[in-house]
Amino acid sequence: MASNVSELTTYNAFLAGEWKKSSSGETIAIKSPYLRETIGYVQAVTQDEVDQAIQAAHEAQKSWALLSLSERGAYLERWADELEKNDKEIATAIMQEVGKGYNDARKEVVRTADLIRYTVQEALHLHGESLRGDGFPGGSQKKLGIVERVPLGVVLAIAPFNYPVNLSASKIAPALMAGNGVIFKPATQGSISGIKMVEALSRTGLPKGIISLTTGRGSVIGDYLVEHKGINMISFTGGSSTGRHLSQQSAMIPLVLELGGKDPAIVCEDADLDVAVKSIMNGAFSYSGQRCTAIKRVLVNEKVADELVSRLKAEVEKLTVGSPEDDSTIVPLIDDKAADFVQGLIDDALDKNATLVTGNKREDNLLYPTLLDNVTEEMKVAWIEPFGPVLPVIHVQSDDEAIALANKSEFGLQASVFTQDIDRALDVARQVEAGTVQINGRTERGPDHFPFLGVKASGMGVQGIHNSLISMSRQKVTVMNLK
Ligand code: G3H
Repeated sequence: MASNVSELTTYNAFLAGEWKKSSSGETIAIKSPYLRETIGYVQAVTQDEVDQAIQAAHEAQKSWALLSLSERGAYLERWADELEKNDKEIATAIMQEVGKGYNDARKEVVRTADLIRYTVQEALHLHGESLRGDGFPGGSQKKLGIVERVPLGVVLAIAPFNYPVNLSASKIAPALMAGNGVIFKPATQGSISGIKMVEALSRTGLPKGIISLTTGRGSVIGDYLVEHKGINMISFTGGSSTGRHLSQQSAMIPLVLELGGKDPAIVCEDADLDVAVKSIMNGAFSYSGQRCTAIKRVLVNEKVADELVSRLKAEVEKLTVGSPEDDSTIVPLIDDKAADFVQGLIDDALDKNATLVTGNKREDNLLYPTLLDNVTEEMKVAWIEPFGPVLPVIHVQSDDEAIALANKSEFGLQASVFTQDIDRALDVARQVEAGTVQINGRTERGPDHFPFLGVKASGMGVQGIHNSLISMSRQKVTVMNLK
């Protein structure tokens, strides 16, 4: 694919209110997944610089928390405006850096501006409460408790590559509105997009030091940040193994983890197959399946399995494959290692006699969409999250069998159930162990004001705009003992 990267920029880190080079003198090359060449360099920040950033965030946070909610909100409103004004430039950065289709990258920027504005409004409308002591046996009316929400201090926001702007802002915006300082650690692949997003924020004139952006090597600053005594809360989106490690490293501070998934689409024999096929296609293959909420397995009733598979095959073969610059649905995966991993899952399934319906073609890190039928429990692809364009189909005899297979997974992010019988849908939804169950629709995080959570290895805590504000603040009770 032809490169349109003319000259390479070395991006500075945003540390304690200044855009600057790291004293390490080292940079990290960012390679585009589809151009397959370096598109820029980011700073490899040191541990000393992390210390300085955290200290600056604590200092700035004291006066930030004293600003009124509407003053804080005004900065964030300007941030949303800046993102919209620069949507094409930021979308181009997302496209080049993580290989997301240009239109989807633009939608990510617009969605982020909407999310920020909603976060401001939600924060403006959060209220505390007051309680009288006489509600409890022996209590007195003269005891009056005032319950308010106060900031936690400094929040560490760690974002993944696949939504380098949206999943960063969905942590930063509630953290700031709740009155916290922020240390933002983008995914290395995603750093340039994160920098562009923070540039937009810094143009609002935000107080110096309230947010720092620490790009760098996980091996140098990853654990250091997570274990740092100056961090008061961590919001992380990424893989389950990193999430587990992080929960062991970060002792005694609140943690919200959005991790992996193996979201099943349960297709009953009475499903509207038009709806099921459309939802499964969109759920499984958009951005080459590089979404935690992608549909990652189909559990279909034997009675409609052949029809479903033949209709899915026809749709898979229509998917556009190629460059994100052409808005292809199937784009090169984030790197060669990711493609090798997905290929390994496909090879294992085929070795164990899965039926290759279509796909299993590869050009470097571009994997063609692959549909596997007659997948069984012995195959890795039945259980492991690929984060790539492969969809395994497992035949079941009953809803009970589908539910048992759905729940046997270590993950529990979301699930879809397709049936035209609402009682049946609700019964399946009740029994599936997942943060969210979608009835007759694809698995997805949005709309962004809905609670978003995973159970088991899929996460801890709850996101979504309201819940993020709650998790990034705490209750403070002041009790008046009246005469
Ligand atoms: O990759 C994880 C994201 O939270 C998924 O978000 O459902 O909007 O694609 P999405």
